[in-house]
Amino acid sequence: MGLPFFVYNLFMKNLIEKAKVERILQKSEIVQILEDSSINEYLFKTADSVRKKYVGDEIYLRALIEFSNICRCNCAYCGIRCDNKKVQRYRLKKDEIIDLSNLASKLGYKTLVLQSGEDCFFKADYLAEIVKEIKKNDIAVTLSIGERFFEEYKILKEAGADRFLLRIETTDENLYKKMHPGMSLDNRKKCLYNLKQLGYETGTGSLIGLPDQTLESIASDILFYKELNADMIGIGPLITHPDTPLKDFPNGNLILALKVLALTRLFLPDINIPATTAMETLNPNGRIMALQAGANVVMPNITLEECKKNYQIYPGKVAVDYTKLEKDLEKIGRKISFKKGFRSDNQI
Ligand code: 5AD
Repeated sequence: MGLPFFVYNLFMKNLIEKAKVERILQKSEIVQILEDSSINEYLFKTADSVRKKYVGDEIYLRALIEFSNICRCNCAYCGIRCDNKKVQRYRLKKDEIIDLSNLASKLGYKTLVLQSGEDCFFKADYLAEIVKEIKKNDIAVTLSIGERFFEEYKILKEAGADRFLLRIETTDENLYKKMHPGMSLDNRKKCLYNLKQLGYETGTGSLIGLPDQTLESIASDILFYKELNADMIGIGPLITHPDTPLKDFPNGNLILALKVLALTRLFLPDINIPATTAMETLNPNGRIMALQAGANVVMPNITLEECKKNYQIYPGKVAVDYTKLEKDLEKIGRKISFKKGFRSDNQI
């Protein structure tokens, strides 16, 4: 006979309290939390209180520009993988990127995220010119352009880039290989450590719901964020794209993705964690659910419509409605911040 429910429930709550105090758990303990649905609310509430204590009630906004959908990679889940010939490819010109960044600045954004496929046209020196130009505005620049050599990351850092996003996607070696033809988990990790070493605020994260992904491997992902001491973590449920090899697989589970987010908040209390668009795409309330489970960042997409429609990493990507966001935030006692929102600005 198993334990009476209340004893078990108390045990699980204690585990969550331990995670909060010690900011770490054993892998098996993380798995226990991930597989037990009876403590979800307790986990979300605990992560929400840690978020409130360490990063406060303000939501940092990051304006996202998807400046090129040209990509040399062939990630099995991604709609803009190079084998997807249905995609109309585009690449913004330097002036177009700068105009958009000026617009972002005028709109009051204090962080700009420049995201693209792994597009070799944008050599580090060329991108550095763009970054320098953008930095003439008082705005933080985050790059999300994939894997590059140390020297390239260095050139971009010296040009003024502040942050870098590079999701590890999964720390499971076999799964990583299957999902990313021609790429290696080792190199991915090396890139992340290089970014850290160069002084970037470094963001990573995982996809939740990849085929054959186990809870053990997700637990290892969370431990990796901790080991890297990541400054930002983006967690997204997989949303299968019809023009990729994963088209017949189910989408990832939003609740599981939220639990990973919440545990990440407990382990790294002062970092920045976005409520990701993939979460909102799976559930109209997904963004708010994430903001109440440990998240403190929203990333509105300011890419022009004609480009946005060709940047379908996954189908049905929803936009941030600014007015609705403000209203929704007010309802949950939160408000938009007009700060740059570095990790070091968060009060620990
Ligand atoms: N569903 C959800 N997220 C995806 N990404 C790529 N493809 C998908 C998909 N089908 C995520 C990856 C990448 C980020 C920019 O988008 O995690 O790092």
